[in-house]
Amino acid sequence: MLTLGLETSCDETSAAVVENGFKIRSNIISSSLFKHQPFGGVVPEIASRHSLEQVDFVFEQALKQAGVKPADLDLVAVTAGPGLIGSLLVGVCFGKALSYRLKIPLMGVNHLEAHLSACFMVPESGAKRAAEFIGLLVSGGHTMITHHRRKKIEVLGETVDDAVGEAYDKVAKILGLGFPGGPVLDRLAKEGNPDAVAFTKPKQKNRFGFSYSGIKTAVLYHVQKARSRAGWNEQDEEQLRRDVAASFQRHAISWLVEKTMDAVQLKKAGHVAVGGGVSANSHLRARMAQETAAAGVKLWLSPLPLSGDNAAMIACRGWECFQSGKKSSLNLAANPNLKISA
Ligand code: KG4
Ligand code: ZN
Repeated sequence: MLTLGLETSCDETSAAVVENGFKIRSNIISSSLFKHQPFGGVVPEIASRHSLEQVDFVFEQALKQAGVKPADLDLVAVTAGPGLIGSLLVGVCFGKALSYRLKIPLMGVNHLEAHLSACFMVPESGAKRAAEFIGLLVSGGHTMITHHRRKKIEVLGETVDDAVGEAYDKVAKILGLGFPGGPVLDRLAKEGNPDAVAFTKPKQKNRFGFSYSGIKTAVLYHVQKARSRAGWNEQDEEQLRRDVAASFQRHAISWLVEKTMDAVQLKKAGHVAVGGGVSANSHLRARMAQETAAAGVKLWLSPLPLSGDNAAMIACRGWECFQSGKKSSLNLAANPNLKISA
C-alpha cells in the first residue's frame, strides 16, 4: 500500500511516498528557513507563501523519486494540525484535492503523533511501533510526555509556557547566535563549562509538567550582567557564549531526561520514544541512551533525518490511523490547536 504524505505545518513543505507505513520510497523537503533568518524566527505569512509556491514541486519530486504515478497511490495522509493556519491550509487543500481526484481515502494526521511514529521508522522495529511506550516529544512548539498503550494515548504532562526548542531559539538570540538556536548551541555547548551558571529547576504542580520561560530569563539577566562588566572584550564574550550554552543545555536536557525516566517508572513501560526537532540534540541522545540502558528499557530515538519536520512521518502516522479503521472526510479542517487524540 502506497501512502502519499504531505507536511506543511510550519516552515517546511514536504511530500513523501511511503510503502506499507514504514518503507520510505521518497521524502522531499523544501525548507523556507533561509527566508525567516533575517527576522530571527518563523514569519507565518512567509511560511505559508513558501508552501503555496513549493507544494506542487515537492509532490512531483516525491513521485518521481519513488518511481510511481499518481494512480499508484492508495492513501493521502496530510498534517491537519497543530501548526500555523496558513501553512496547514495549503497541505490540507492539496491533500483533499488529490483524494477527490484520485478517488483514494484521505487521512488527517496530528503532527505531534507523527513525530513519535518517526522513531519507529527504522529497520529494527520490524515495521511496527512498540505496543506500549513512553513518548518524549520535543520540538519548537511542544514539550510533552505521553503514554501510549495499544491505540490509546495519554498526555502525562506538557510545558506550561515555552517549549524546549523555543527556549533554545531564544537563548541563541540573547547570545547573538542567529536562528534556529538548537544546532548552534548544541555545538557550542561541547566547548563550554556546564557548571559555569547554576539555573534553578522550576517548580511544577504537575509531576510531568515543564516550564522553560524562567531559564531563558535567567540567561538574559546573566548575560546582561556579564556584558556590563568593565573591560568586557571579545574573548570574554566568546567564553560567555560557550559557558552559557553548556550550562543551559545541561539543565534544559536533564529536566527532560529526569521526567521521562520518572514516567517510565510510573507506567512500568519497557520502551521510550524520543521525537521532534530537539531529538537531534547530541546531549539528549547521549543522556537518554545512558539512562534507558541503566534501567533496562529499549530506546527509540528518531532517526536524525526524520527528527525535523518531514512528510514521511506523516505518511507513517496516516497509515497507522487508517489501519486502525480511521478515515477523514473531505470536510477535514486544518486545526492550529489540534490535540493528541486517543
Ligand atoms: O520539530 P521541529 O523541526 O519543528 C516544530 O515542529 O517545531 O523543531 C524545531 C526546533 C527548533 O526550536 C530548533 O532550534 C530545535 O528544534 N533543534 C534543536 C536541535 N536541532 C533542532 N534543539 C536542540 N539541539 C539540536 N541539535
Ligand atoms: Zn515538528
